[in-house]
Amino acid sequence: MGFHGPMGLGGGPMRAVWEQRRSLGYMEGSRRPSKETLRRLLGVLRPHARRLLGALSLTVLIVLLGLVPPLLMRAVIDQAIGRHDPGLLIYLAGGLVIFPALGALASVGQNYLNAVVSQGVIHDLRAAMYEHGQRLGIDFFTHTPGGEIHSRLVNDLNAVQQVLRTTMTGLFVNSLTILLTLTTMFVLNWQLALISMLILPAFALPVVSFGRRTYDAITRTQEALSRLTAHLEETLTLSGIVVVKSFGTRRREAGRFRAFSEDVRRSQVQQSMVGQWLTLVVSAMSAIGPALLYGYGGYLVIAGKVQLGTVVAFSTYLVQLYNPASSLAGSNTTLMGGLALFDRIFQFLDLPIDVPEPAEPAALEASPGVTPLSLEFSHVRFSYRAGEEVLHGISFTARAGELTALVGPSGAGKSTILSLGARFYDPGTGEILLDGAPLRSLRDDSLRTLLSVVTQELFLFHTTLEENVRYGRPDASDGDVLQAVEAAQLGDLVAQLPDGLQTIVGERGYRLSGGEKQRVAIARAILRNASVLLLDEATSSLDSHAERLIQEALGRLFRGRTVVAIAHRLSTVLAADQILVVDGGAIVERGRHADLLAQGGLYARLFHEQFDPGTQSGPA
Ligand SMILES: Nc1ncnc2c1ncn2[C@@H]1O[C@H](COP(=O)(O)OP(=O)(O)O)[C@@H](O)[C@H]1O
Ligand SMILES: [Mg+2]
Repeated sequence: MGFHGPMGLGGGPMRAVWEQRRSLGYMEGSRRPSKETLRRLLGVLRPHARRLLGALSLTVLIVLLGLVPPLLMRAVIDQAIGRHDPGLLIYLAGGLVIFPALGALASVGQNYLNAVVSQGVIHDLRAAMYEHGQRLGIDFFTHTPGGEIHSRLVNDLNAVQQVLRTTMTGLFVNSLTILLTLTTMFVLNWQLALISMLILPAFALPVVSFGRRTYDAITRTQEALSRLTAHLEETLTLSGIVVVKSFGTRRREAGRFRAFSEDVRRSQVQQSMVGQWLTLVVSAMSAIGPALLYGYGGYLVIAGKVQLGTVVAFSTYLVQLYNPASSLAGSNTTLMGGLALFDRIFQFLDLPIDVPEPAEPAALEASPGVTPLSLEFSHVRFSYRAGEEVLHGISFTARAGELTALVGPSGAGKSTILSLGARFYDPGTGEILLDGAPLRSLRDDSLRTLLSVVTQELFLFHTTLEENVRYGRPDASDGDVLQAVEAAQLGDLVAQLPDGLQTIVGERGYRLSGGEKQRVAIARAILRNASVLLLDEATSSLDSHAERLIQEALGRLFRGRTVVAIAHRLSTVLAADQILVVDGGAIVERGRHADLLAQGGLYARLFHEQFDPGTQSGPA
């Protein structure tokens, strides 16, 4: 059908790269970290608020516990040692073990809650992205390589998860630690506290520029990664590798892969270097602190203004001050990186749904398969791209229970008509009506039970033959499945397969021939039992035996249904109640076979070119 677009057809790898650039444009906006991103991030965290609050309370506890040991040390030096009190010494030493142990225990709980929350957020986002992806129009998929979607769901989320785990509570822990440590220091001795604080502002200096650079570096890395994944999925999967092998382009594709991989390498290195310089600058600066403390503190001790224990306690607090300060400086870069990743994810979640479900769906709930329904096109105009109209006012009615055949040269718009009938797209103007109700007024799932599509390119899932047949009606009885399999002329094939209906078919399983796959699709449609069937007949030329099997299977499928078929078989046009001849996006002739043939127009010409039993090839 028309919806495989340029990628699926004569694309080739060059074309793929070109498409990919374009589709990256599809996703890229003017991306800058924004308050809006932060606001949405908070929205994502909200469902996990209770656990997050738990993690934060444990954090407060951990920070408070961390303040105690320096005070104990001070007491050891100034009181226990100073007053030669061994009893107090043992008591204090015990405290020096117990408080850190309690802190460690609390951080196990905090890490657990952290992991639960960050994984929970990732899980929510992953599911939301998958479900949003399902609702995006076919148009999006024709313009976006599968690998790129894959990359958003896997690579970006992975990266986000790492950021979340480290920054979610990190910001809070570090700010709180600094605040409480400083307070304690001021209470102990304000002069020493001032000295220790002197270099703190320096930690803030590199923050802003590094943050922006990290944001850009991560954006570049994730983009490079998604190009790499897209190339991988295109050229190192079953359908791609066959093309690569048959054209002998192994080296060319490997070269391209290396180039993509090289991009990833370069941007990853750049990304990690942003952090490295920061660490260097900050650690160089933090060496100044102890020098000042011991210099000035030592002077105060000599002058008898301060006891030695206080200076020792301060040197411990200094570590507790500078470590969080430098991670706080660093967490800005991680945070900016995190925002870059979240922006990419939100961007995907913001992609518009071109074929929305109606807010108040019309009631059309005929029991499927019982009454055939009519499908009417009324003055339908449609363009894939603005300014390039493909259908110029199509009007016809596929009457209930009748077979309507679409015939016409390649590129005429037949597949587009079918895609619109299946509501893969909405028409620009005009209306498509199912039993009198506009398609866009119907609920999506009721539309799908009433109408089903058999496409030209068949896709089987990697599972048993039975599951593939059952796909459209998982609750069908075994008897119904067997009946559908028989009706689709698959009985002999099933008997030959190693595990019968339980044989794994599809992508990597047992390979079925083109004709066999078509019959699996027909069995699926028979079992599905929808009232309206849209069919793009396959063009593959089959031997006369396979052709006869398919004809019989189709005959059973058409019985009692409204069918619109793009006809590539003589038998279909002969059986059609009406034939619509499509050319250049319009219906140019309509009628029954004998009448159209007698007119001697386009149909007569096409018939002799394509349907004459002597020649086997059909139109595209
Ligand atoms: N996904 C698409 N995006 C843009 N143009 C498309 C797409 N699919 C088909 N077309 C164009 O629409 C026209 C009709 O195509 P199609 O309906 O596939 O014709 P047919 O099935 O009769 O061969 C062609 O010019 C084709 O290039
Ligand atoms: Mg077509």
